[in-house]
Amino acid sequence: MSFDTVAHNRSRQQFNGVSSVWLFGYGSLIYKVDFPFLERRPATIEDWARRFWQGSHDHRGTPEAPGRVVTLVSQPGATCKGMAYRVSPDVFEHLDVREKNGYLRFSTTMTFDDGSNAEGLVYIATEDNAAFLGPASTLDIASQIARSSGPSGPNSEYLLKLADALRTLGDHDPHVFELESHLR
Ligand code: SIN
Repeated sequence: MSFDTVAHNRSRQQFNGVSSVWLFGYGSLIYKVDFPFLERRPATIEDWARRFWQGSHDHRGTPEAPGRVVTLVSQPGATCKGMAYRVSPDVFEHLDVREKNGYLRFSTTMTFDDGSNAEGLVYIATEDNAAFLGPASTLDIASQIARSSGPSGPNSEYLLKLADALRTLGDHDPHVFELESHLR
C-alpha cells in the first residue's frame, strides 16, 4: 500500500443518501478539531488499544526523519476512550487528506457515556501500511518523539496535547502517560 490513502478511502465507503456519520477520534482528532461537526460526545470502542506505532512523514516528522503518532492495534478486552463526532459526509473530503499517511476508514461500534451505541467510522493505520513503525521501548519512542518535528509542529506537542485531552476525558492510558512522563 502506498503512503497516500486518499484514493483508497474514497472507494471504501459510499455515503449516498446519508445525512450524517459518526466518527470516532482517539488521537489528534480529539484535540485538533479543524472540521465542522453536528454533535460531539465522549465515547469508547472495545478491543482496540492506542499505540504510538505509526510513522508521521507529513505532520509531525518528515520523510527523512518520521515522527510517531497513534494508531489502534487489536487487543481483545481493551477499551479505547476518545471523542465521537457526528459529521456531514462531505467532511471526509478534508479528513481523508488529513489522515492520508497510512490511515484507512474502518467501521466500528462506539459506546457513549450513557451506555447507548452508534455505528460509525474510525481511521486506523494497519501494520501493512508503508508508514507503520511498530513497537519499540517507551524510552525509544519518547526520544524519537522528542527529536521529531514536521509541518504541523513538534511531535512532542502531539503527545502532550493528547495526554492533556485524555486527562480531560477522565481516561488513564498507561502507554500515553508513560511516554508523557519520559518526555517531561
Ligand atoms: C485519530 O485521531 O482518530 C486518528 C489519529 C490521528 O489523527 O492522530
